[in-house]
Amino acid sequence: MSASSLVRASALALILAGGLAGSAPAQNAATAHPSVWPKAHSPATITDARTEAFITKLMSQMSVEDKVAQTIQADGASITPEELAKYRLGSVLVGGNSAPDGNDRATPQRWVEWIRAFRAAALEKRGGHQEIPIMFGVDAVHGHNNVVGATIFPHNVGLGAARDPDLIRRIGEATAQEMVATGADWTFGPTVAVPRDERWGRAYEGYAEDPEVVKAYSGPMTLGLQGPLIAGKPLGADHVAGSAKHFLADGGTTGGKDQGDAQISEADLVRLHAAGYPPAIDAGILSVMVSFSSWNGVKHTGNRSLLTDVLKGRLGFEGFVVGDWNAHGQVEGCTNTNCAQAYLAGMDMIMAPDSWKGLYDNTLAQVKAGQIPMARIDDAVRRILRVKVKAGLFEDKRPHEGKYDLLGSPAHRAVAREAVRKSLVLLKNDGVLPLKSSARVLVAGDGADDIGKAAGGWTLTWQGTGNKNSDFPNGQSIYAGIAEAVKAGGGSAELSTSGDFKARPDVAIVVFGENPYAEFQGDIATVEYQPGDKSDLALLKKLKGAGIPVVSVFLSGRPLWTNPEINASDAFVAAWLPGSEGGGVADVLIGDAAGKPRHDFRGKLSFSWPKRADQEPLNVGDKNYDPQFAYGYGLSYAKPGKVAVLSEDAGVASTAAVNVDRYFAAGRAPPPWALNASGAVSLKTIDAGAQENARQATWSGEGAGSLTIAGPPVDLSRQTTGDMAVTIRYRVDASPEKPVSLGLACGESCGATVDVTSTLSGVKRGEWRTAKIKLSCFKAKGADMTHVSSPFALSTAGRMTLSFTEIKLASNEGDAFCPPD
Ligand code: BGC
Ligand code: BGC
Repeated sequence: MSASSLVRASALALILAGGLAGSAPAQNAATAHPSVWPKAHSPATITDARTEAFITKLMSQMSVEDKVAQTIQADGASITPEELAKYRLGSVLVGGNSAPDGNDRATPQRWVEWIRAFRAAALEKRGGHQEIPIMFGVDAVHGHNNVVGATIFPHNVGLGAARDPDLIRRIGEATAQEMVATGADWTFGPTVAVPRDERWGRAYEGYAEDPEVVKAYSGPMTLGLQGPLIAGKPLGADHVAGSAKHFLADGGTTGGKDQGDAQISEADLVRLHAAGYPPAIDAGILSVMVSFSSWNGVKHTGNRSLLTDVLKGRLGFEGFVVGDWNAHGQVEGCTNTNCAQAYLAGMDMIMAPDSWKGLYDNTLAQVKAGQIPMARIDDAVRRILRVKVKAGLFEDKRPHEGKYDLLGSPAHRAVAREAVRKSLVLLKNDGVLPLKSSARVLVAGDGADDIGKAAGGWTLTWQGTGNKNSDFPNGQSIYAGIAEAVKAGGGSAELSTSGDFKARPDVAIVVFGENPYAEFQGDIATVEYQPGDKSDLALLKKLKGAGIPVVSVFLSGRPLWTNPEINASDAFVAAWLPGSEGGGVADVLIGDAAGKPRHDFRGKLSFSWPKRADQEPLNVGDKNYDPQFAYGYGLSYAKPGKVAVLSEDAGVASTAAVNVDRYFAAGRAPPPWALNASGAVSLKTIDAGAQENARQATWSGEGAGSLTIAGPPVDLSRQTTGDMAVTIRYRVDASPEKPVSLGLACGESCGATVDVTSTLSGVKRGEWRTAKIKLSCFKAKGADMTHVSSPFALSTAGRMTLSFTEIKLASNEGDAFCPPD
């Protein structure tokens, strides 16, 4: 039967089931038909008769407890080696904020010690248990990015622009080498998402909006990480297991919502979002991570037709399927500690970071009661053990462990620098580039000398916030690379974030763009750059107004509407999130002393660049496709082009987006929020470093008074489970006399308060400070986070004077806390 007649036949089946009558039951719309999927095959080399016989024998000696334990993965921050020795879980991971001892800056030596302690625990001889090595998983998604000193490669959004599969393979190899040096043996990559809506906070983790690039890259990245599979032999000692993620259509959710729902046809699922999987499977990928998201209303983690019938059946995947971070808890009818459905759908290993113990108990009971058939658990365990054999874990030879020189080695840095050069996309050049290395260059913008900003999310911390240049001992900022290049040619570089200069420059390079974010924290409502705060545009205009030619280097995890910024620049380079090798930018921008290029631009857009801020989704091949710069666009020195003045109509009011996370900034409460003082408190506008950018609240002590931010109810549940905090930048001008509470309200008689008296009393008067109170504190005290009508209410009955410049939600990283009761 041909594919198209199959589609017709299955459509007929749907009609018979009442599925096309308009009220399609979710289950039908999310049932895959394997025969319409392309075939892929695990190379026969993933396993062989000897391995299977070894596994059969081992499994015959495993108790049901041992088997269930193999299927569960805990996070290193939530399990001790002692607990692992007792429970014998199959794997430990390091989540984005879960470095050894909770220290994001742990040394590589400490990483090795820490991982060894877990490994030893799994192999400890204790009555009744089989000694089975654990797999140790990390998110090495742009290099071994959790470890200080590692080479940080450009994020995938930049690599897509390079259109260079061999480069991708070499990046995979370098990443694997840095991983094995610190003892990790499994990475949660490659990400083969095809982001179709760049409002998605994970768009930068994808190579391209078009499946073509993803398809071309997923095999080489798999080969780079794992090495070519050889029958009957484990992976080479300088390779690691990979995990293609996130199955499936994580980049296809409506509105680009993280963990959302892809409301698309099966044909689009296959054509667009599945593209990266067959090549990864053909290259021998050992695991596949299932997406948090849904397809037509059904969470993938519970979708048997996709996991079992398509992935393991049609696509012939012989490795194991791993879940995402408590994603099973989102399957209908499940909780984080109870989800037979996920196993029944075909999940082999469940990522249960902090929920592993409860999940273990419940799963064990379900297997014993026959609710999860033993055969299903046996299949899961067999797959996991197969991968462990192939990954060489049973042999446990680790010749590179402890070779810390591999981290940020010159060879790896050279590959990263090449990747930076190749990923730069030249959007505009009115002839100012290349610069002569003999020039006097002003380097401005807050990204110029900030490796953390250039590296983005998933860098040392989950969100990538809070990093300093000193956290990248082997890295070089973009400014440092420019300084080096001009020094070599007799020129000079002056660094000034604000653009003020001592010596009048020949040219200014301004490096600016998005600040780091990860996952849903990067979701945005429109693709406008700096909505409501055009401070970078002001900087460009200031320099241009002074008659200085301006070269913009734009750091971002996605194309953003930047027409005003492009108009204000003589040249505009999309540099994406280049990582730790900022020198790659200077390689291309700065020529020799005579201005002859040393390297040309090679990057071509792998995401369409928008003409308006409301223009998402925007993808090559769309009907009425009308981007500002099309997919595949990219100027070069060899092929220059002229860019006319661009329209500065964003197509959307800056306030159109529902602002759920900024409550007070630049002296006012941005819409939809309002700042109210009620009772015995009065407000006054003051200056704190800028004109009228702060308020001072004075409680008179004559009764209770509250300072409140209120608006229409917003859903902050994801912000709560995703570790965000209410953050206030404040100054105590007169200490509180009586208890002070901070409240969060969810309607008239719904809410919770925490006592912040000690937070405000213990501090020096007149000093600016930041306090971060976790949203989860309010949830724990009963607040309904799905409709928060007031995210901030500060109340006291005594006297107090407090000034504040900013109130917002921010990531928990750093020192967020719950005040004690
Ligand atoms: C992310 C995955 C990641 C995992 C482990 C999840 O929240 O979605 O991409 O591999 O956490 O850190
Ligand atoms: C991330 C983890 C991270 C955690 C923080 C998850 O969604 O994927 O890697 O450490 O949130 O709570």
